[in-house]
Amino acid sequence: MKRREPPKKKTVVLAHRFLPETWKILKPRFKVILAETRSKLLKAVKDADGLITTIDHRVDEELLSKAPSLKVVGNFAVGYNNIDLKACKRRGVRVVNTPDVLTRATAEVALGLLIAAARRFPEAESLCRSGRFKGWEPDMLLGLQLKGKEALIVGKGRIGLETAFLFRAVGMRVGFITRKSTEADIRSKLKKAQVLSIHLPLSEKTHHWLNQKRMNLLRGDCIVINTSRGPVIDERALISHLKRQKIFAAGLDVFEFEPAIPAALRGLKNVVLLPHLGSATAEARAGMARLSAQGVAAILSGQHPANEVEF
Ligand code: GLV
Repeated sequence: MKRREPPKKKTVVLAHRFLPETWKILKPRFKVILAETRSKLLKAVKDADGLITTIDHRVDEELLSKAPSLKVVGNFAVGYNNIDLKACKRRGVRVVNTPDVLTRATAEVALGLLIAAARRFPEAESLCRSGRFKGWEPDMLLGLQLKGKEALIVGKGRIGLETAFLFRAVGMRVGFITRKSTEADIRSKLKKAQVLSIHLPLSEKTHHWLNQKRMNLLRGDCIVINTSRGPVIDERALISHLKRQKIFAAGLDVFEFEPAIPAALRGLKNVVLLPHLGSATAEARAGMARLSAQGVAAILSGQHPANEVEF
């Protein structure tokens, strides 16, 4: 009697090596192919049923046109501005992302950036490392206290709300700008804010949300924090604002043309710079590995995972 062939395994392409958790979930059930450069990726997706990407991988018309059997993209991120959703929709490609698991990690970075900017940690750190610290001074590196300050959070999603919780815990009053805020409302809130923390997804609507005009409304003691996406701030305008000390400081985890960080920004003392590590905790990254891989596996098995992006 002829033995029946086992059903052919579906193929999942990984655009990055990711973490062992990703492989543990996918390997027993799928053929897993690693394609770490754009040119390898464009070839590997030819036979892909699933694909896992990071925010640095463009899922665009070019890639999708080379992936005729692709059913799902799992983005190892909560934001998915790297994915052309309209093109995915046209081709029936579904998308999963990694919400919730990185909410606290990102909010903690927002608070950390704020404390570092308010208390001038970068200047203080480099003083210690340079060997120029000659002893305590009553007026050395004076910063700003957070307790009692007026914080304004832009975006009332999961990360915005968690950041508000942490900001309140250090004694700040917290207000929000939401999708429903009118321009008049935004302007009057920007004029009062002593801390402005941005938590917006990047889209055509939010590109340069903090533009020169709005920046001009900010108080001289305001601290601007961005842990969302670089292009939501007009970076050139911010650099000029910081240079002229029109605001107290900024704390940035993301940059307009990431990974490029302009020399003009790197040269400023009143800015704290981090290399996009909002979700960089062991806990969050393990959760992201789990959610992206399980989401892809679920869709390839005909299910509807909770982390599927609606579009
Ligand atoms: C990281 O930036 C993310 O969107 O998860």
